[in-house]
Amino acid sequence: MKTKGFIFDLDGVIVDTAKYHFLAWKKLANQLGIDFTEHENEQLKGVSRVRSLEKILSWGNKTISQTQFSELMEAKNNDYLQYISAMDTQEILPDVPRVLNTLKGLEQSIALGSASKNARAILERVNLKHHFNAIVDGNDVSKAKPDPEVFIIAAKLLNVNPEDCVVFEDSVAGVKAANAANMVSIGIGNSAILGHAKHVFNDFTEISNAFIDSLISK
Ligand code: BG6
Ligand code: MG
Repeated sequence: MKTKGFIFDLDGVIVDTAKYHFLAWKKLANQLGIDFTEHENEQLKGVSRVRSLEKILSWGNKTISQTQFSELMEAKNNDYLQYISAMDTQEILPDVPRVLNTLKGLEQSIALGSASKNARAILERVNLKHHFNAIVDGNDVSKAKPDPEVFIIAAKLLNVNPEDCVVFEDSVAGVKAANAANMVSIGIGNSAILGHAKHVFNDFTEISNAFIDSLISK
């Protein structure tokens, strides 16, 4: 059987942390007098912390000093860290362990490709770190999704060609990054939002072992 590279985004794919990013950004935006709904949030999914704050400020037509910028980034992350400090394995999204175990049983290579600088700590907290042959996170990249850099580095570390990689993503920016890397993109979430992915599923419970087999033998 062929060995392919399976690259997972973290927030909103492996764990239910997208809601915590949302709450922390909403608080910050509202404090600045800027509207922040699910619509704005969708545009921040998969996007780095710096780029997210830049976007929020531009939506509100605000300019601030570098010092204020750093303070706001820190405040957002502190709020987020509060949320994730209470996390446990219950926040692993449905059927993620089954898919990881199935891939391992089929001797496939598995990587994390996340924009988050908190990724390693979260994987440890939910006890999933040992599943990954490679981890690429926000500390390892210079270009944020939709740039494909994070996934290209992951493929290199797995020693698999980009065309032989499959990416699981819940964000518009992440699906774009996977497509730009020439990888098979699988959207996890709403097909109305992730229609540019090669395949879309609401969650991993809809991903059968037969479908996984078909990805490997392709
Ligand atoms: C992505 C999230 O995975 O990581 C974004 O989808 C988040 O919402 C980004 O802003 C950066 O995360 P962190 O933990 O480094 O602030
Ligand atoms: Mg995500």
